[in-house]
Amino acid sequence: MKVKGEWPVLKDQEVLALLPELLLEWYDRSARVLPWREDPTPYRVWVSEIMLQQTRVEAVKPYYERFLEAFPTVEALANAPTDRVLKMWEGLGYYNRARNLQKGAQMVMERFGGQVPASFEELRSLPGVGDYTAGAIASIAFGLPVPAVDGNVLRVISRVLCRRDNILDPKVKSRMEGEIRAILPQRVGDFNQSLMELGATICLPGGPPKCLLCPLNQVCRGYQEGVALELPVKTKPKPRKKEERTLFLLVSRKGRLGLWRRPEQGLLAGLWELPGVEGKLNQEQALAFLDSKGVKAENITQGPKTKHIFSHVEWHMNCWVVRDVEESAEFTWAGTRELRETYTLPSAFKGYFPLVEELVTG
Ligand code: ADE
Repeated sequence: MKVKGEWPVLKDQEVLALLPELLLEWYDRSARVLPWREDPTPYRVWVSEIMLQQTRVEAVKPYYERFLEAFPTVEALANAPTDRVLKMWEGLGYYNRARNLQKGAQMVMERFGGQVPASFEELRSLPGVGDYTAGAIASIAFGLPVPAVDGNVLRVISRVLCRRDNILDPKVKSRMEGEIRAILPQRVGDFNQSLMELGATICLPGGPPKCLLCPLNQVCRGYQEGVALELPVKTKPKPRKKEERTLFLLVSRKGRLGLWRRPEQGLLAGLWELPGVEGKLNQEQALAFLDSKGVKAENITQGPKTKHIFSHVEWHMNCWVVRDVEESAEFTWAGTRELRETYTLPSAFKGYFPLVEELVTG
């Protein structure tokens, strides 16, 4: 349908809804003949998906046949000596995959009566089986309507929709899983594999994607806008900032602890805390700070260092313990009971809780 000489602009979900037909038609024509596709029993699909984690199809092929000859059933794998399983895996790398696969086979024997379970959740409970692998086995071996979104699929869909979201963000992945779930066709196993296949043979990472051969080029925004190669966006989270802090454990003559409130904006907004400042203060600097807050520190000693990790920042905390002070109006003074009932300290200060307990007597 042409409107005023332009193509109508489709919404994301409308573009996605076109994919099953285009992809399945292409898949029927061009899918690679692969051993696990010939006879997709649950056990065979499971073994293939574990081998294909972090390993390319061509590298997996020779191992796959040998492995299944050596361990043709779940039971055979469950009962085999682990050394023999590892021997058959030798050269494929990531040997925990083999160990987990065997543990999974033993679980299937014990918990599921020797039958690979036909549900996403039960598959997901097997060692080495994450969301993607559970989705792949559930859809390919059992025809269950679940998505199987891995890096290939994230790349294909990011390009088709010209999305610049960071695919390393788990929220971006779960959103895409939801969107794919909404368009799954009857032939769900073939559809999931067609997305993987497109990612592995046409919509390539790194090098130039083979857009001219792609069955989705007529609907792909990344191609139409000439930006397919820039996508997907993968931005690593920024390294956490390390922040030195100096805290003051102020204990009054009445045995109460000096606290103040954090600013209303930012980290731990508005919460009570052990008074502290940015930076590592030596004794002279600490005394100057205390003086500015009306505290005469006659009994000051160095306290322990502790560390707390927030999502974007690490606090490396130093501490001065100051005893027998007058209760300056700059702080709020809390005894044991108030600390328990009113002025709960954030767990960032956990490292000081034992010392607080020991020093606060009021
Ligand atoms: N990568 C992971 N699983 C695959 C499959 N079933 N077909 C092709 N590539 C894959």
